[in-house]
Amino acid sequence: MSAKTSEIKLKFLEALQTISNAEELEKIRVEYIGKKGYVTELLKEMKNLSNEEKKTFGQEVNILKNEVNDKISEKREELRLKEIELENSRMPEFDISMPPKLKRGSYHPITLVQRQCEEVFRSMGFAIEDYSEIVTDYECFEALNIPKNHPARDMQDTYYLENGQLLKSHTSAAQNAIYKKYKDALINDGKPIKAIFPGRCFRNEATDACHENTFFQMEGVMVDKNISISNLIFFMKTMLSEVFQKDIKVRLRPGFFPFVEPGFELDISCLICGGDGCPSCKHSGWLELCPCGMIHPEVLRMGGIDPEEYTGFAFGLGLTRLAMMKYGVKDIRDLNSGSLKNLAQFTDDK
Ligand code: PHE
Repeated sequence: MSAKTSEIKLKFLEALQTISNAEELEKIRVEYIGKKGYVTELLKEMKNLSNEEKKTFGQEVNILKNEVNDKISEKREELRLKEIELENSRMPEFDISMPPKLKRGSYHPITLVQRQCEEVFRSMGFAIEDYSEIVTDYECFEALNIPKNHPARDMQDTYYLENGQLLKSHTSAAQNAIYKKYKDALINDGKPIKAIFPGRCFRNEATDACHENTFFQMEGVMVDKNISISNLIFFMKTMLSEVFQKDIKVRLRPGFFPFVEPGFELDISCLICGGDGCPSCKHSGWLELCPCGMIHPEVLRMGGIDPEEYTGFAFGLGLTRLAMMKYGVKDIRDLNSGSLKNLAQFTDDK
């Protein structure tokens, strides 16, 4: 090693000894192997050397450069560990290098129920669609046979944005877009439209144990030739029996929604008493779960589908409701509380 190289190396090693923090280390790095550092400068001296000398000297400088680099990395790690140690000594109870001792997280009850429903419908050939939470008046109401100023608008109040858009008050707001998306495959290739679209919905409501201004629904539609109410009952019964892991009895009562004709309220046999009657089902043996019906011809037409040729059903499953039933959540507000203490009791270790 040439005298010059070893001198620089020695000086570097000495300087390294005195380093006590990352800033000083960086200063030394620049001083030695930065653009104008001592080691880099050495290379400039090469021009005065013979070819043979250039080769050995070049190698020597490169070796030195790598050594300096390695030592700096080592030092950096050493400083990092020292810092952790220092932090630890300041707070003996708290080791910042340890993974947090929090309990493993769990999914939100609504997420769990939503995924389960999605799984069942996926296995029955339904596509799962996502849709925005901000929609137009047309999507949320007009395309669903609820014209402006129609009394049916009173059924659902929501939050309006200054630009005239609104937060969707039900997942039905995606129906029109779904029909338009899949209608060509239905009409040209005879592929039935089968889709579910879960989503967050909003209503301008006074909140109490059973009402929230933000909740989840899962809409489902099926459109093809000769779809009837029997198809609707079959799919709902299968899905609910899977979700609750037992045979669920269902019944339909008439219900009014402008976008279905006929429209129904689908009830399921009470999960607590099995249908005998108890306080949870107000002694009726039935729980109201899912409004549904045969898609109104006008709604199909607005979606670009000829109602003379095709029929379909639609349902709006209350996911929040379902989660409450499945996990025995008594107050709907617990679900949006963000309180792990409240939520973990329903889903922990499940
Ligand atoms: N969108 C309706 C509501 O939220 C429910 C519904 C969906 C009814 C589909 C019939 C068919 O009240």
